[in-house]
Amino acid sequence: MNQDELKALVGKKAVDWIKPDMIVGLGTGSTVKFMVDELGRRVNEEGLNVIGVTTSIRTKKQAESLGITIKDVDDVDHIDLTIDGADEISDDFQGIKGGGAALLFEKIVATKSKKNIWIVDESKLSKNIGSFPLPVEVIPYGSGTVLENFKQKGLNPKFRINEDGSLLKTDSGNYIIDLHLQEIKQPHELAEYLIHQVGVVEHGLFLDLVNTVIVGTQNGPQVLEA
Ligand code: A5P
Repeated sequence: MNQDELKALVGKKAVDWIKPDMIVGLGTGSTVKFMVDELGRRVNEEGLNVIGVTTSIRTKKQAESLGITIKDVDDVDHIDLTIDGADEISDDFQGIKGGGAALLFEKIVATKSKKNIWIVDESKLSKNIGSFPLPVEVIPYGSGTVLENFKQKGLNPKFRINEDGSLLKTDSGNYIIDLHLQEIKQPHELAEYLIHQVGVVEHGLFLDLVNTVIVGTQNGPQVLEA
């Protein structure tokens, strides 16, 4: 199976965790896309009744086009379960997210969820996180100064750019600075530092949020529990 097939495998499998009448957080990315397709199928073919809370404009459009009922995160008093992808997951289930630039909405939804599940192909697992560049969402005003501060601290920052060379903007109109770190030995300390920098809106370290990971392997989907 190629990477897309592994993503499709876990995307489909993850829908087994969604029970009738749940309020479900719908993540963002190519793996989640398969999950939302399967959820749409079950809603339409099996009459599965759920409410979705989306984490990006992309996912919202897809879910609505499939007839899944969507509510704003502020219009639900809880979220039962959120299913999302991840860019890198360590042995102890700490993660980097934001490769698709949706980290801010993803973290808002994840922190409101009673349970979070990540769905990934096996290439996303590593002993320690950090080889995937860590996204940091910053407001445009003063973002050059934030970048410079990160440089001084040795965090190897780079603005994320579009194919045409313009600065990428998130769904909230912010920029992304990716930190090329190779390895993050102390993720909690780094998270604490990043969130206290003026101009930083959110970062892609998702710590202590997930205890179930569904991994696509050549032998089928494997469920890892912390
Ligand atoms: C979106 O910003 C990300 O957090 C995605 O969830 C993550 O990049 C995984 O995406 P893929 O499933 O496309 O690899």
